[in-house]
Amino acid sequence: MSITSLALLACYLLSFNVEATPNFEAEALLRWKESLGNQTSLQSWTPGKINESLTTGQCMWFGITCNMAGSVTEISLPSARLRGNLSSLDFSSFPSLVSLNLSCNLLTGPIPFQIGTLSRLTHLNLSMNFHSGNLALSLANLTNLSLLYMGNNLISGELDPRLFSNWSRLEFLELQNNNFTGVIPSQIGLLTNLKELALMNNHIFGSIPPEIGNLINLDGLALSGNHLMGPIPPSLGNLSKVTVVYLHQNRLSGPLPQTIQNAKNLKDLRVFKNQLSGPVPQGLANLSSLENLQLNENNFSGHLPPVCQKAPLRVFTAFSNNLSGPIPKSLRNCKSLTSELGKLNQLGLIDLSSNQIVGEIPKELGRLSKLIFLHLRDNQISGQLPPEIGGLSNLEDLDLSANRLSGQIPEQVGDCSRLRNLCLSKNYFNGTIPHTIGDLAHPGLLDLSQNRLTGDIPPQLGSLIMLEYLNLSHNVLSGSIPSLFNQMTGLTSIDLSYNELEGPLPDNDFFRHANLTAFSNNKDLCGIVEGLRPCNVTSLENGAHGIAGRKVFIIVGACLFGMLLSFAILVGFLTLSGRAEFKSNSKEATTSNSGNIFSVLNFDGKIVYEDIITATNDFDDMYCIGMGGTARVYKAQMPIGHILAIKRVRCLEGEEEEEMVETFKNEIRVLSDIRHRNIVKFYGFCSHGQHKFLIYDYIERGSLANVLSNDEEVQKLDWSKRVDIVRDIANALSYMHHDCTPPIIHRDISSKNVLLNSEFEACISDFGTARFLKPESSNWTAMAGTYGYVAPELAYTMRVTQKSDVYSFGVLALEVIMGKHPAELISSLSTLEQSIELKELLDLRLPPPTVLFEKDVASVVKQALSCLHITPNCRPTMRVVSQALLKA
Ligand SMILES: *[C@@H]1O[C@H](CO)[C@@H](O)[C@H](O)[C@H]1NC(C)=O
Ligand SMILES: *[C@@H]1O[C@H](CO)[C@@H](O)[C@H](O)[C@H]1NC(C)=O
Ligand SMILES: *[C@@H]1O[C@H](CO)[C@@H](O)[C@H](O)[C@H]1NC(C)=O
Ligand SMILES: *[C@@H]1O[C@H](CO)[C@@H](O)[C@H](O)[C@H]1NC(C)=O
Ligand SMILES: *[C@@H]1O[C@H](CO)[C@@H](O)[C@H](O)[C@H]1NC(C)=O
Ligand SMILES: *[C@@H]1O[C@H](CO)[C@@H](O)[C@H](O)[C@H]1NC(C)=O
Ligand SMILES: *[C@@H]1O[C@H](CO)[C@@H](O)[C@H](O)[C@H]1NC(C)=O
Ligand SMILES: *[C@@H]1O[C@H](CO)[C@@H](O)[C@H](O)[C@H]1NC(C)=O
Ligand SMILES: *[C@@H]1O[C@H](CO)[C@@H](O)[C@H](O)[C@H]1NC(C)=O
Repeated sequence: MSITSLALLACYLLSFNVEATPNFEAEALLRWKESLGNQTSLQSWTPGKINESLTTGQCMWFGITCNMAGSVTEISLPSARLRGNLSSLDFSSFPSLVSLNLSCNLLTGPIPFQIGTLSRLTHLNLSMNFHSGNLALSLANLTNLSLLYMGNNLISGELDPRLFSNWSRLEFLELQNNNFTGVIPSQIGLLTNLKELALMNNHIFGSIPPEIGNLINLDGLALSGNHLMGPIPPSLGNLSKVTVVYLHQNRLSGPLPQTIQNAKNLKDLRVFKNQLSGPVPQGLANLSSLENLQLNENNFSGHLPPVCQKAPLRVFTAFSNNLSGPIPKSLRNCKSLTSELGKLNQLGLIDLSSNQIVGEIPKELGRLSKLIFLHLRDNQISGQLPPEIGGLSNLEDLDLSANRLSGQIPEQVGDCSRLRNLCLSKNYFNGTIPHTIGDLAHPGLLDLSQNRLTGDIPPQLGSLIMLEYLNLSHNVLSGSIPSLFNQMTGLTSIDLSYNELEGPLPDNDFFRHANLTAFSNNKDLCGIVEGLRPCNVTSLENGAHGIAGRKVFIIVGACLFGMLLSFAILVGFLTLSGRAEFKSNSKEATTSNSGNIFSVLNFDGKIVYEDIITATNDFDDMYCIGMGGTARVYKAQMPIGHILAIKRVRCLEGEEEEEMVETFKNEIRVLSDIRHRNIVKFYGFCSHGQHKFLIYDYIERGSLANVLSNDEEVQKLDWSKRVDIVRDIANALSYMHHDCTPPIIHRDISSKNVLLNSEFEACISDFGTARFLKPESSNWTAMAGTYGYVAPELAYTMRVTQKSDVYSFGVLALEVIMGKHPAELISSLSTLEQSIELKELLDLRLPPPTVLFEKDVASVVKQALSCLHITPNCRPTMRVVSQALLKA
């Protein structure tokens, strides 16, 4: 062979490489695209776009990356709404492929055997699809693999030990939320470079192989939610880099090994819901990074470890064990230690219920001002509830029921103004119910039953207008039920039985339809409830009732005085400074704690405080159009023709109003930053000491919830209006999430907080719980929102993201189409896009949509369903939703 012919041969081979291989690749991709049917995200994948001169047109296609030679190295199509399977994708056509990312699609069928030919592959992500079948053994051929994500599919079968023999480079292995069975092979110990091993939520059984201790580079280990049995291997202590260990919800038994304290970097240890026994290793207290410790629902005995000696715990649960001894005094350190590390790390949740804990509640607990959740129910705690409890100013949930607490309920309970649930039942509390409980901002549950409480029911409880559940039964309460209880329109359940109460029941719909058992075994109650004697009208005028009435008069009088004073100052303010400049004043409102702050936006130059007072006849009930936990809303017809909605924040005394002021300021802060046609217009506010109100545009038709629940009104909401309403809400949320800096999260999207104007245009309202999403903070927060609309992940993460609003929007959008809250339907949707027929969802009070609107309605439902995805990352953003609905 001559030199020239050799050179020619080389040239031929070279040009073959450049031209032929890429053609293979383009063809393979196009064949796959064809098998997938219509895919809008693959529009750029067309043969016509292939650049003739280089034949590497596929390198320009959406989701495709090539190397210098024009050969495909990456296929990246996450969340591309791909629907179909992988059986038509010819893997052997991609000799250079390094990364394949098809996460978050709707792909079905098995992962083909041929995937084993992608010998250069380092990253394989097929997570969050609907793949089924077994894990192909050919995956063992991918010896360069460093990342393998197959989580959230329907893959079944056993983990073949042969898979693990060649994956020495593997760093991330995620197979969670599948249908795997069998045992964890001991060969797992060969993956010594592994940083993450996630096998949680499968059907894996057997024991945890001790070889897991060989994975010395492991950072995260998640084996929870399986059927694992036997002991936790002490070799776990060798994992010196591990930060997260999830072994919860298995059938593990034996002790939690003492060696765990050698895992010095442990941040999050969850072993709850197993059959672990023996003492809790006291060495846990020495772990200086531990933030989350969940030991609940095991058989642990002995004393609790002295947590928070070194660790900034945020969550500590040990309920339902056999733990004894006192509440560790070291808990008080949780605050002082963590404040050095940043206040957002402070302890937020303690649950030690259902143990045999004895001793008193340490008064130092009151220093945990960031604590949100404190459950010590069902123990043998005795002594008094220390007044220091009032220091828990962020507490939302306090359950001390079924203990041996005695003495008075301290007045300072009212300082925990964020309390939503207050449960002190089944103790030996005596004395009277502190009237300060009436100061709580928005409690939903109040249970003081089965104590030895005496005296009158304080009329101040009547101001808890959002309270849903009230139980004061089995005490020794006397006097009458305060007539102010007729304001408690939020009540769904009440029990006042087994007391010494007398006199009339409050007169409102709830009490008229209440069950007699709620009032049985009292001294002499009367009223219109069936089974009670009717009241004697004359005796009603005197007695306890009259006294209660007088007290109320005094409170209202004080508030009125404040109002008059603020009026005088406002007049001065307006005269002196002329136009009130809103922005600067709202800043003042956020910085100044005392003093008088006013801002009334220039509204046709004529908005005057006086007009508001006149228009509402000093906030007469006649003008009240709505009530919430913290406020009443009044309609004010202004002299110049505008109608305003005035939200008047509840009148409070002294320091207890701080929480209310926070909500008030928060709403001002958020609303003064945003302007959008689908967000309620905000004109200004007035704040003077106890007296505060916000001024908005009046929205004629009231809340969407009202319109949907009214069979007559709802007739006017035809399909086209409903689609528009959903679009409006999506637009407003998209604006808040993506066009505002920092982004604003509403946190309480529900049909009650969406208002409709005369044209049925939707306006989002009620920004009291809204949050700015600040990148520098952890955005870790207390739960907010309305039951039935709250994203499921908020139950355990408490982290604010846009995706929780997206979820609430999904619920709301379905509600608009169905005409009622989707309730249980949501949980049955867990396997996305199950065959729900559109017809099954439509509000039957309307004729079905005409062909013209059917597509729009279907599009709303489709978007709503995607917003309800259980995995927050798989939910679309509001921008995507609003654009999709626009096109529909
Ligand atoms: C796919 O798109 C074409 C053209 O846009 C259309 O004619 C066809 O009906 C679509 N097929 C499906 C299954 O949606
Ligand atoms: C083909 O690619 C070359 C180099 O990238 C470019 O200059 C040329 O315009 C492309 N031709 C077509 C038809 O796209
Ligand atoms: C794949 O896509 C997901 C979702 O967008 C992304 O989080 C991930 O970083 C991508 N890459 C790999 C290698 O998984
Ligand atoms: C994959 O999709 C193609 C085309 O839609 C279909 O014909 C084939 O049956 C599917 N294969 C599997 C295993 O689901
Ligand atoms: C995996 O590798 C073996 C030997 O290295 C080979 O025989 C087999 O064909 C490969 N499997 C695939 C699917 O490439
Ligand atoms: C997953 O496993 C469960 C129980 O083992 C079985 O009932 C179910 O059919 C399996 N699902 C799939 C998709 O394999
Ligand atoms: C409440 O009980 C304590 C002891 O448990 C007792 O000392 C106190 O006198 C009682 N107070 C009232 C008002 O009954
Ligand atoms: C009243 O409540 C009792 C106990 O909760 C229940 O058994 C009874 O059925 C109720 N009666 C009515 C009329 O709802
Ligand atoms: C109601 O009160 C009046 C006057 O106090 C008394 O004469 C009458 O007997 C009472 N009626 C009932 C039903 O108690």
